[in-house]
Amino acid sequence: MSKAKDDGVTVIDHPLVLHKLSIMRRKATSTSKFRQLLREISLLLGYEVTRDLPLAFETIETPLTHYDAPTIEGKKLCLIAILRAGDGLVQGILDLVPSARVGHIGLYRDPKTLQAVEYFFKVPDLADRLVIVVDPMLATGHTAVAAVSRLKKAGAQHIKFLCLLSAPEGIKCLRDAHPDVPVFTAAIDDHLNDHGYIVPGLGDAGDRLYGTK
Ligand code: URA
Repeated sequence: MSKAKDDGVTVIDHPLVLHKLSIMRRKATSTSKFRQLLREISLLLGYEVTRDLPLAFETIETPLTHYDAPTIEGKKLCLIAILRAGDGLVQGILDLVPSARVGHIGLYRDPKTLQAVEYFFKVPDLADRLVIVVDPMLATGHTAVAAVSRLKKAGAQHIKFLCLLSAPEGIKCLRDAHPDVPVFTAAIDDHLNDHGYIVPGLGDAGDRLYGTK
């Protein structure tokens, strides 16, 4: 169950997703529980984000007859994790699509120029693949915009952006910069605070995932 709005944003508000997300939001939820829930939720989000994968028909033999069987067409899809929290969304989607390719992109914000600076970039061949960029939090949108720009430069033509939580500011920023990139999110929260955190949110997704705070 998901609500696709005609503004390129799909809210995946399946009850299982919302229930798991509510547990993740709780301050008292442990690192191991948070990590496990992110993996479970990413599988459910992955199910929705791949809903329109094109199918081709292949004639197979069942034990009884020939059958035109639907199979996913084209090159294997590619997941791109924005480091470091994006990595927490990868395994659940791989549980669903084990043959997916995986790339990583690392960006940090230069405190003086506020520009995104790349510190890591390793991706498979991106041409003619669906590229799903994953990051749990779409906050200001600056990192997402920079990541998508970099992936387009590297040859990506068909990109979707998948996150767990988003802020209206981040969605606007990404959609304004890349209107061809649909956004999938489990929830759109209220606003960003002065430190760029999503409110009510769940805190720092990387810290909660890796127990670094
Ligand atoms: N990144 C996070 O991890 N949390 C936020 O709330 C915003 C950005």
